[in-house]
Amino acid sequence: MGTTAKPVGAAEFVPADADLDTVRAAAAGCRGCDLYRNATQTVFGEGPADASVVMVGEQPGDQEDTQGQPFVGPAGRLLDRALGEAGFDRETVYLTNAVKHFKFAERGKRRIHKQPSRTEVVACSAWLATELELVAPELVVCLGAVAAKAVLGPSATVGELRGQMVQRPDYRITATVHPSSVLRAPDRKTAYADFLDDLAYIRDTTRQ
Ligand code: URA
Ligand code: SF4
Repeated sequence: MGTTAKPVGAAEFVPADADLDTVRAAAAGCRGCDLYRNATQTVFGEGPADASVVMVGEQPGDQEDTQGQPFVGPAGRLLDRALGEAGFDRETVYLTNAVKHFKFAERGKRRIHKQPSRTEVVACSAWLATELELVAPELVVCLGAVAAKAVLGPSATVGELRGQMVQRPDYRITATVHPSSVLRAPDRKTAYADFLDDLAYIRDTTRQ
C-alpha cells in the first residue's frame, strides 16, 4: 500500500483579486487533489454573480461531469421542480457544490457516485470560499451533510440545521437534505414533502 499524500489543495490555484468568470476559468485547471484525474472536467458553480441565495450541493454527478454544469442530472431535475413549487426561480439562485470534481467507482459501464472524503472537501474548499466571497449572498443553503460540513465545519448536521438559520457576519446559513436523498428515500412522497417544507421556509425568510 502506498501512502496517500496530503493534497496541495485548491488555494494555490485561486487567482487573487479576480472576478467570478476569471475564478471559474482558473478552476478548470485545478489540480488541488487527485479527483481531477478520473473526472471529465471541473464543474464550477452557476448562476447570477449577485444572487442573494447560494445553494451548495455535494459534488457533480455523472451527468454534471459530462456536461460541465451543476445539477443537470436526476437530482438537479428534482431540485428544479421543488424550487419551482416552493416559489423560487432557479435562474435567481447560484448553485454550486462543496467539491468540484466527480468522484466515482466504475462498475462495468456505470460510474457509481462515491462520497468525497473530508480531506477532499477541505482541499476543494478554497473554490467555495471564493464563490461565497464574490457572490456575497444573504443566505447559503446547504443541501445535505457534506455541504453542511463544508460550510459550517465537521460537526454540522442537517438534522440540527433544517428549519433554522445560523447568523454569520456575512450571511445566514441553513440546510436541508440533498435532493438525491429524496430520490433514494423508501417513502419518496414524504421525503419530497419534507424537502418542499424546508424550501418553503427558506423562501419565506428571503426576499427575492
Ligand atoms: N448532486 C450534487 O450534489 N451536485 C450536483 O451538481 C449534482 C448532483
Ligand atoms: Fe481541485 Fe476541487 Fe477538483 Fe480537487 S476536487 S482537483 S481541489 S477542483
